[in-house]
Amino acid sequence: HSVGIIGAPFSKGQPRDGVEKGPDLIRAAGLVKKLKAQGCAVKDYGNVTFEEVANDEPIGNVKRPRAVGSANQRLSAAVHAVKNDGHTCVMLGGGHSLAIGSIQGHAAAKKDLSVVWVDAHADINTPLTSPTGNIHGQPMSYLIHELQSKIPVLPNFSWIKPCVSAKDIVYIGLRDVDPEEHHILKLLGIEVYSMTEVDRLGIAKVMEETCDYIFSKVKKPIHLSYDIDALDPSISPATGTPVVGGLTYREGIYITEHICQTGLLSAVDMVEVNPKRGRTEDEISSTVNAAVDLIRGCFGKLREGNHPADYKMP
Ligand code: ARG
Ligand code: MN
Ligand code: MN
Ligand code: MN
Repeated sequence: HSVGIIGAPFSKGQPRDGVEKGPDLIRAAGLVKKLKAQGCAVKDYGNVTFEEVANDEPIGNVKRPRAVGSANQRLSAAVHAVKNDGHTCVMLGGGHSLAIGSIQGHAAAKKDLSVVWVDAHADINTPLTSPTGNIHGQPMSYLIHELQSKIPVLPNFSWIKPCVSAKDIVYIGLRDVDPEEHHILKLLGIEVYSMTEVDRLGIAKVMEETCDYIFSKVKKPIHLSYDIDALDPSISPATGTPVVGGLTYREGIYITEHICQTGLLSAVDMVEVNPKRGRTEDEISSTVNAAVDLIRGCFGKLREGNHPADYKMP
């Protein structure tokens, strides 16, 4: 695997600071060294820098639209460049509003994508349905073709070109979905494996069905958008919107192992790690280490063990 890492230390798509520390914490936990040790070629592109936006007044109830629009435009260019260099892109957030730029930049390089969204939340509110006004609860709505007639004009959002079809999206791990979001998911017929389906089918069947679904017509590159709050808060408590009843560590890792073996993983987001939401050092390190392990699973680390193809027994 050839991996290009981009940090996006940005927190303004949601109200809690600390999430901008995610990229450097995940690096400090040894991400690059560990990926190299498992045989990956890794290039770290560093962190995207963001412009200060003054007078970022809400539009309707949408909070900090100018800062979020501008940050995502920069991120999108950075992801596009990593994809043009031929790497699988790993975007370290930051909050989940960054999926706008990450998916947009990925789509600019690869055209047609499948999106696998692993999260407690659907993040598909439109600016008009959002109960909180936080853009990290809305990124999918800006990207899905079928929703564009419902998206009002926002400052610094005009560069966004809807790039994903409802039929090319699979959600896994949902357990906190707003009524307005539930309506959208049903209206568009989006494929959802909520925690109920994870309970009913088991994670192996969920992943088998996920791949059958996304590969049923053409095999498109996969964008895996992984919100750390998909995992149960007993594993990843240091996050802004934890929800009980989440994926176990094993289920979370299984998802990455399965997506890896498709050979079609093209970009990964790892978002919403927020050290300021951890109550102890252990809570923070457990969350950060889970993020690192999930990324390692995306790039070939197997629990059965691995060895290099050219290994010679002494
Ligand atoms: N549904 C809620 C909202 O729209 C919560 C979203 C949480 N999103 C996240 N990326 N953690 O505000
Ligand atoms: Mn979430
Ligand atoms: Mn499969
Ligand atoms: Mn999310």
